[in-house]
Amino acid sequence: MLSIKNLKKRFNLEAGFFAKTGQYVYAVNDVSFEVADNETYGLVGESGCGKSTTARLIVKMYEPDSGEIIFNGQNVRKLSGRALKEYRERVKYIFQDPAKSLNPRMSIFEILTCGLRYSKKWQGKQKARELAGKILCEVGLTEADLDRRPSEFSGGQRQRISIARALLMEPEFLICDEVVSALDVSIQGQILNLLQEIRQNRKLSMLFITHDLKVSCYFCDRIGVMYNGVLMEEANAKDLYKIAKHPYTKLLFASVAGEKKSDTVLHNGEKLSKAQEVKIAKSTLTACPFVERCKKAKTSCSMEMPQLVQIAPGHKVRCSELQIND
Ligand SMILES: Nc1ncnc2c1ncn2[C@@H]1O[C@H](COP(=O)(O)OP(=O)(O)OP(=O)(O)O)[C@@H](O)[C@H]1O
Ligand code: SF4
Ligand SMILES: [Mg+2]
Repeated sequence: MLSIKNLKKRFNLEAGFFAKTGQYVYAVNDVSFEVADNETYGLVGESGCGKSTTARLIVKMYEPDSGEIIFNGQNVRKLSGRALKEYRERVKYIFQDPAKSLNPRMSIFEILTCGLRYSKKWQGKQKARELAGKILCEVGLTEADLDRRPSEFSGGQRQRISIARALLMEPEFLICDEVVSALDVSIQGQILNLLQEIRQNRKLSMLFITHDLKVSCYFCDRIGVMYNGVLMEEANAKDLYKIAKHPYTKLLFASVAGEKKSDTVLHNGEKLSKAQEVKIAKSTLTACPFVERCKKAKTSCSMEMPQLVQIAPGHKVRCSELQIND
């Protein structure tokens, strides 16, 4: 259904917080993957590794520097005007932070239907209320909630509203960007169950973005592990914890098992700061992006970027040492 090929996007550091002339962050650096009909593909990795940028490229919020995005045979990069509008109705992006993405001055009815109002599916306010009420019930809220404002809802309920807004145009593909990260564990479970029901009932495909490997193993069909703009390993979600080969994937699993957060992992006994991670991101074109943190690193790892290689059916790994030794 969705095919991403050699997607690249770099940002000039002048535009960011760590402003320096002529330097770049390779936010998405030659990323390729496919999502089949009715499949949920998980994109997993630490903060700043390029997950949201990949999602934003897919919905054309950003223009890629190079690469292909094909959706049901359509070249997404060439879409504009009405065709782009229709594409964005078929592919919906649920944002990371429901508190920020819901306009506090609008009623839930207005939030849910503002896209519909300017589309050719608009059949008047009464029909829109019926549809919005029905979708609110589908996500576990009630028709009476249509006249309330976002501030009257809890975090979990606001995420339900974001999901309802995405469903209103009856999309075929949902991009869920850290949709449960800001929620308590018990509420996370409820939202995941809701998404599970929705994808089954509506036969949806999903790109499920998270920094939480455990959640992605539970929820997704396949997983791509990303580090500093690069896909490091791809495998079936249910097998990944048994077959993980890449040192970074193994480190993430070790973090799940023993440490509080994956970003508390140490390199040479020191915790990496955000600034250090950005520094590493600048070197991704000429070395393995993980070389600064990898216990298996050899001199050759700093000389060239390893290729993503299939080592078993459905299992790809990017590590030059593994290709030689395993
Ligand atoms: N508009 C932008 N301008 C400059 N740099 C950017 C921009 N958007 C993202 N970046 C940089 O690109 C890199 C990838 O960011 P991105 O938001 O895609 O990461 P992420 O994996 O979604 O992280 P998180 O888990 O924190 O959401 C980061 O280093 C970020 O600082
Ligand atoms: S290529 Fe080298 S640095 Fe990169 S993950 Fe493999 S062993 Fe580690
Ligand atoms: Mg993000």
